[in-house]
Amino acid sequence: MGKIILTGDRPTGRLHIGHYVGSLRRRVELQNSGEFEKIYIMIADAQALTDNADNPEKVRQNIIEVALDYMSAGLDPAKSTLFIQSRISELTELTFFYMNLVTVQRLQRNPTVKQEIQMRGFSESGEENKAGTPVGFFCYPISQAADITAFKATTVPAGEDQEPMVEQTREIVRKFNSVYGPALVEPEILLPENAACLRLPGTDGKAKMSKSLGNCIYLSDSAEEVRAKVKGMFTDPGHLQVSDPGKVEGNTVFTYLDAFCAPEHFDKFGGCFTGRKASFDFHSLDEVKAQYRAGGLGDVMIKNFLAEVLNDTLEPMRVRRKELEADLPYVYEVLRKGSETARAEAARTLADVKRAMKINYFDPGVLEQLIEEQSRKYGNSL
Ligand code: TRP
Repeated sequence: MGKIILTGDRPTGRLHIGHYVGSLRRRVELQNSGEFEKIYIMIADAQALTDNADNPEKVRQNIIEVALDYMSAGLDPAKSTLFIQSRISELTELTFFYMNLVTVQRLQRNPTVKQEIQMRGFSESGEENKAGTPVGFFCYPISQAADITAFKATTVPAGEDQEPMVEQTREIVRKFNSVYGPALVEPEILLPENAACLRLPGTDGKAKMSKSLGNCIYLSDSAEEVRAKVKGMFTDPGHLQVSDPGKVEGNTVFTYLDAFCAPEHFDKFGGCFTGRKASFDFHSLDEVKAQYRAGGLGDVMIKNFLAEVLNDTLEPMRVRRKELEADLPYVYEVLRKGSETARAEAARTLADVKRAMKINYFDPGVLEQLIEEQSRKYGNSL
């Protein structure tokens, strides 16, 4: 059996460069590798609603933003099925059945959910001044297991924060298969290879890029916006004078370079390291780091270089996004068709699940058998 990908994002905002290096860039590579039989990319609107119940308009508006980001980053509807989660009602049925295989205590231990509950300020012990955790939100790892298993996905390319979800999915699959018989496939997460990409910090150096912290660089930011955001980035607070030795570890500018810089960028943008007081001829990021550590290399030069590197990556996406923005009916058509394809696949899995659970009462042959067994029970003549 071939390998199958399922992954996705919540449509709560435009995608940023953390999404890009954490998952999106890899998805595009995997899509183009030809190694996968099927690729499903889901816009998780139903999951987004689990903590945005009172703001469906936000979710609705961001579906197109995420779709535009996907397609401008290189996801190709001819190779990948792009779809909207809520269009696949089979997913909620699967979720309901899986709920019986997971304990409340197990959900409470999910580290990502724990962290998200804290970040959102939901009450954990019923404090009166805080809103409680919506049940739907608390259960979203189960619904995510439905998303993954509905497509018999073997591979989930995602960021580190999704690891507990995939682990929980694997547990559900094992439990399901052992209780009802082997109907489901155990997936594996595919994490980014490079540590900088695992969790790209915000421009303020905070652990995570997040819209609410205002520390994101969006894929759709203009070149000027990128330059301004890079200019304001945190570096090494101890690097006060250009001549001072600087720290590379934990220096956000270098973390971004680790995630984005390629050898060819030195040919293209080496000029950034030519200044009035000092000039350098770098050919690799290691050389830049060594010079920064030794002292004499100013933050302005590296920031100029980083802005060029980022814009070099983002520019082709901006161009494609403009084209797609001018043809919204096409983008929605991609999502509509993708959702139909995805729904047919999820319906096949749901049928397998119901068969395994023996709740497929009216499938061909099943009813006859049921009636036969029960007629015997009731002593009816056959
Ligand atoms: N939880 C993911 C996010 O926060 C979105 C998502 C929903 C997902 N279902 C998934 C990711 C299944 C991977 C696999 O963006």
